[in-house]
Amino acid sequence: MNLLRTKSVQQLVSESEEQQTKLKRALSAFDLTALGIGGIIGTGIFVLTGIGASNFAGPALVISFIIAGLASGLAALSYAEFAAMIPVAGSAYTYGYAALGEIFAWVIGWDLLLEYGLASSTVAVGWSGYLVNLLSAIGVNLPAWATNAPGAGGIIDLPAILIVGLIVSLLTVGVKESKWVNNIIVVVKLAVILLFIAVGTSHVTPANWHPYMPFGWGGVMTGASIIFFAYLGFDAVSTAAEEAKKPQRDLPIGLMASLGISTVLYILVTMILTGMVNYTKLNTSAPVSFALNYIGMHWAAALLSVGAIAGITSVLLVDLFAQTRILYAMSRDGLLPPVFSSVHQKFKTPHVSTRLVGLVVAAMAGFTPIKDLAEMANIGTLFAFVIVSAAVIVLRKTKPEQRRPFRVPLVPWLPLLAIVACLYLMYSLPLLTWIRFVVWLAVGLIIYWRYGSRHSLLQKGENGRLSGDKTMGTDPQKGGRGAAR
Ligand code: ALA
Repeated sequence: MNLLRTKSVQQLVSESEEQQTKLKRALSAFDLTALGIGGIIGTGIFVLTGIGASNFAGPALVISFIIAGLASGLAALSYAEFAAMIPVAGSAYTYGYAALGEIFAWVIGWDLLLEYGLASSTVAVGWSGYLVNLLSAIGVNLPAWATNAPGAGGIIDLPAILIVGLIVSLLTVGVKESKWVNNIIVVVKLAVILLFIAVGTSHVTPANWHPYMPFGWGGVMTGASIIFFAYLGFDAVSTAAEEAKKPQRDLPIGLMASLGISTVLYILVTMILTGMVNYTKLNTSAPVSFALNYIGMHWAAALLSVGAIAGITSVLLVDLFAQTRILYAMSRDGLLPPVFSSVHQKFKTPHVSTRLVGLVVAAMAGFTPIKDLAEMANIGTLFAFVIVSAAVIVLRKTKPEQRRPFRVPLVPWLPLLAIVACLYLMYSLPLLTWIRFVVWLAVGLIIYWRYGSRHSLLQKGENGRLSGDKTMGTDPQKGGRGAAR
C-alpha cells in the first residue's frame, strides 16, 4: 500500500473531462470575483467584529484584520497557482492528491469537512443574530432562551437551526443558485457596507480609538485568529474551475480580486465601527447594525440588517454546498463509503450526505456559542492553507516541468511566509481548540486506516472507473463548491 501515491495532473484533468455531464463554462473574471465576494463577506465582518473588538483587540482589531488578510493573501497565491494548473473542481483536496499523495488528500478532505461544517454552523448563528435584531426593530421580540446557544445566554438557537434546515432542503432538491442571483446578492451586500461607511464616517469620535490596544499585542493576535473567519470562502473561486471561461487567466484574478476588495472593506468598516462606538459596547450579536442604531440612524440599521441577512444566506448556501461535495468527492474516490456519493434518483443530488451534513451542522449551530464554532472552523482552514502552501513548494520540486499559467513569485519564500503566518495564527487560538482539532484529525486517520486505505480506488488501481458509474447523473451542481453558482 502506497499512502503517498499521487494522481497526475493529466489524470485529474481528464477525469473531470470524462464526467457524464460537463459543467458549462459560463463564468467570467467578473463573475468569479463576485463568486469569491459572495462566499467571503458574511458573519465575519457583520458579527465577529463585535466579539473581536470588545473581548480581544479593541480598536486595534484593524491590525488584526490586516494580519489575517496578509496570511490569507499569501495562501491565496498558492491556491491561484494550483487552480490555474489543475482547473478541476475539488480545490485543496484535489491539490493534495496531485502534489503530496493520498494520505495528505485524505487529511485535507477531512480537515475541510471541519472548515465547511463549522463555518456553516457559525454563519447560521450569525444569520440568527441579525434576524433577531431585525425583528426586534419592528417590535417582534423573540425570547433569548430560544435564540441563543447554551453558554451564550440561552438554551437553543432555533433560528440558526431553521435556516440550516431550509438551505438543506433547497440543496436536496437541487436548487441551483445562478450567477445572477449571486451577483445581485453581492451588489446588495456591498451596497449596505458602503452605506455603513458613508453614514458612519461622519459619526466617528476619535476618542473611541483610545486606548488603541487595550489588550496588548496578544489581544491583537487572538483577535486576528478569530476574525480570520471573515476571510474564509475565497477558495470558492478555485472550486468553480470547471465552470470558468478562461480558468487559467481568470481564476487567479478572481481569487486575488475578491480577497483584495474584501480586505479593504473590512479595514474601513472596522475603523469606522470602533470609531463610532466604544469597543467596550460592541459585544452584541449584530454589532454593525447596533452601531447605526446607536447614532440614531434606525432606517440605515434596518436596511443593513436586511442586506446582512441576504449576504450571510449566500455564504451559508456556498458552505453547505461545499461540505456535501467534499464528502461526495471523497466517497467517489473510495475513501468514504459509497452512501456519501449516492445520488437521489429524481433530484440527482447527493441527498444522503446533504441531510447528514444538515443534521450535524444544525445541531452544532443550535447548541454551540459562535466564538467556539468560529475558532474550530479557523484552525481547520489555517491547517489547509499550510498544506496547500507546502504543496506548492513540493510540486515545484517534483514536477518542475508542469505548465504553470500562474506562478507564485519568490518560491519557496512566499509560501514559507504563508506557512509561518498561518501557523502563528493557529498558535494564537486557545488550547481547547487545539485539543478538539487534534482529536478530529486522529479520528480521521483512524477512519482512513480502517476504511479509506482499503477501499481507495487509486490504491486498487481502478481509478479509470471513477468517471462513469458513480457520477451524479445530470446534476449540474456536482463537482465543487463554486458549482452552485
Ligand atoms: N467568510 C465567511 C463569513 O465571514 C465565512 O461569513
